[in-house]
Amino acid sequence: MKKTIFGKLPDGREVHQYTLKNRSGATAQIIDYGAAVTSLKVPDRNGKMGDVVMGYDSLQGYIDGTSYFGAIVGRYGNRIGKGHFQLDGKDYQLTINDGENHLHGGKTGFNKVLWDAKAGNSEEASLRLQYISRDGEEGYPGTVTLIVTYALTDKNELRIDYEGTTDKPTILNPTHHSYFNLSGSFDDTILNHLLMIDADGITPVGKGLIPTGQIESVAKTPMDFRTPMAIGAHINDENEQLVFGKGYDHNWVLKGGAGKVRKVAELYEAGSGRMMTVLTDQPGLQFYSGNFLDGSAKGKNGAAYGRRSGLCLEAQAFPDTPNKPQFPSVTLRPGQKYRQTTIYAFSTR
Ligand code: GLA
Repeated sequence: MKKTIFGKLPDGREVHQYTLKNRSGATAQIIDYGAAVTSLKVPDRNGKMGDVVMGYDSLQGYIDGTSYFGAIVGRYGNRIGKGHFQLDGKDYQLTINDGENHLHGGKTGFNKVLWDAKAGNSEEASLRLQYISRDGEEGYPGTVTLIVTYALTDKNELRIDYEGTTDKPTILNPTHHSYFNLSGSFDDTILNHLLMIDADGITPVGKGLIPTGQIESVAKTPMDFRTPMAIGAHINDENEQLVFGKGYDHNWVLKGGAGKVRKVAELYEAGSGRMMTVLTDQPGLQFYSGNFLDGSAKGKNGAAYGRRSGLCLEAQAFPDTPNKPQFPSVTLRPGQKYRQTTIYAFSTR
């Protein structure tokens, strides 16, 4: 594993970039700031490598950035209504950083901190990152230790394993926030990508993107990705959910029982032949079609990432779960272990 200096934080601490390379020549680069994937090069159908994730050329981009490029997001990936919840009868108020709500861990989420990195101890090319989030950080109770291991397998899979513990009852729902464009170029939108999501329902939202608490069938709606559909096919339909999200920015209720790693989504780009299969043990998948990108972020090699030029498939528990007792729980107690495995597997056809 190659390790280089990526930059220095304002307080003088060094940020490193690690390069994982597998036996088929694919590479993944990860920095210890935000545990962010900065590049992911996988072959197209002719064997030509292409970088399929958004990122910045320099550390300053990651420090200033507001789009969570490639990062591990937490403690809570996604939104918590008014940043408020109760646990064991106690009230907790989290940082408000998205309108009147809490989003992606708050002002200084896991994407804005320096993690401790070391080589993983598996046969594969892997990197293990640890972050200790202190009691009270962004309003969350308990000191949480989260370990995230990235592995680039010889089968061109980026596998992300999470392990978390706490010293007081708390909530934990981390996710990974890469923006993908399988063409290997971010000049085009992702509207021609074909997407399949193995889900019969979504958790519909109101204004502010907080779930109503219902589960709504995808049948006969633009949310029906049960068979592969071009993302652009219905994204501009007159549909209340798409209006609230300014496009797709919703949680799909994945089939086939959480807790077991299963295939939940497939993304295909015909020009390059690249296919990405998402596997996870999580109950939900947030599909965000990059609606808020506006070309202002200065990306790698001078790229101006325009609206919908990349998309996120974020495996997680449902949004606002702490306020929705009917959703699968995100509570973590001392003595318990939080676990997640999510795999982005690349192939061609
Ligand atoms: C998530 C959210 C979006 C947006 C992006 C970051 O995926 O669901 O609404 O906040 O992160 O810009």
